[in-house]
Amino acid sequence: MGHLRQRRILVAIAGGIAAYKGAELVRLLKKQGAEVRVILSRGAREFITPLTMQALSGEPVHTELLDETAEAGMGHIALARWADLLVIAPATADVIARLAHGRADDLMTTVALATAAPVAVAPAMNQQMWANAATQENLTLLTQRNIQVIGPDEGEQACGDVGPGRLLEPSQILEALAGRFSSRQLDNKRVVITAGPTVEAIDPVRFLSNHSSGKMGFALARACAEAGADVTLISGPVHLSPPDRVKLVAVRSALEMHAEALAAAEGADLFIGAAAVADYRVASPATDKIKKDDRGELSLSLVENPDIIAAVSGLANRPALVVGFAAETSDLLAHARAKLAKKGLDMIIANDVSDPDTGFGSDHNAVHLIRAVSEQHLPLASKQVIAEQIVATLAKELAASSAAGAAQ
Ligand code: CTP
Repeated sequence: MGHLRQRRILVAIAGGIAAYKGAELVRLLKKQGAEVRVILSRGAREFITPLTMQALSGEPVHTELLDETAEAGMGHIALARWADLLVIAPATADVIARLAHGRADDLMTTVALATAAPVAVAPAMNQQMWANAATQENLTLLTQRNIQVIGPDEGEQACGDVGPGRLLEPSQILEALAGRFSSRQLDNKRVVITAGPTVEAIDPVRFLSNHSSGKMGFALARACAEAGADVTLISGPVHLSPPDRVKLVAVRSALEMHAEALAAAEGADLFIGAAAVADYRVASPATDKIKKDDRGELSLSLVENPDIIAAVSGLANRPALVVGFAAETSDLLAHARAKLAKKGLDMIIANDVSDPDTGFGSDHNAVHLIRAVSEQHLPLASKQVIAEQIVATLAKELAASSAAGAAQ
């Protein structure tokens, strides 16, 4: 169940006798290598203490919507952005009703409204409350809004009743959550992704480069692999470990990335250029370390690097979808649209790197997906959530283009 490793899972525990099973869920998630943060409602604190949850999650526990110390550390909006997934377990009939009506009257429901991450609820209540038309209608509303409902189980209840409404076992909830991160949308597809910066040598000890962290490209590689694709990730030097089941090709210069990308992209289904490729390289890097002299200045002669993604787009056996990134500091959409046309891309993903929330090195992003015929905005979320949303869109486009190809 490697799908949960390094995932940021926000577990919200509502008040009910099943709250203790929420504690077990946190323990199991940690065991799977997930990063876990916990929200405890006021009712939940009658059954289980913040200290228990802090010990299990290894993080401070979040309890109140308006708490000065919490807001100074990780406030409700930061928490909503941090999450790759929010799971409310147990979710009482009351929480389900408040979610259905978009209420934001405590921390849990506010974060549920404020997050772009997927939300899941694991209901737990008395069987009569579960069967009530109000609860069932509320659940229908949640399902229509893509909130996953996990369970409930049937059987003997704490109140002595027998019927549906018991919280599923934590191991079953864990399995359902892991399943969220493994779709088969890109089964049998071959994907090539470039990521990170390139490094252009000046001499044996110095280089020109940029601030790219590689996080977005690596998040995309993970999302593609989890969707079933065969992924080659061609990356410049970064401080990240490659996701599971991804073939990493480590490169340094733009010329190396160019050669590897063209070789790998031939006949692939999807190419994503997430690398920040240096536009220029030093014309003739010195073979020995350059020494300081008395002139007080140094000139470097630079020559333009090949445009990797434009070359991939021009291949005879071109991938069905070629997708670029445009990291801009001004006139975001205009620059991005111009690059889409100039480089012969099917889509360009535009992001504003002048904003510290979405700039280089940030764990979050907010992007515009721009095609010749349509545009879509993906609001601020963790880079992994953004990557999954991008991959879901690209998988649909690939399916549509292969259906169109088959019809011809
Ligand atoms: N790109 C590429 N090869 C290059 C330069 C850019 O493959 N030599 C790709 C990037 O990976 C990205 C897209 O082109 O997908 C846009 O990159 P960007 O640096 O924004 O575009 P440039 O063409 O370099 O434009 P400028 O630096 O002038 O903004």
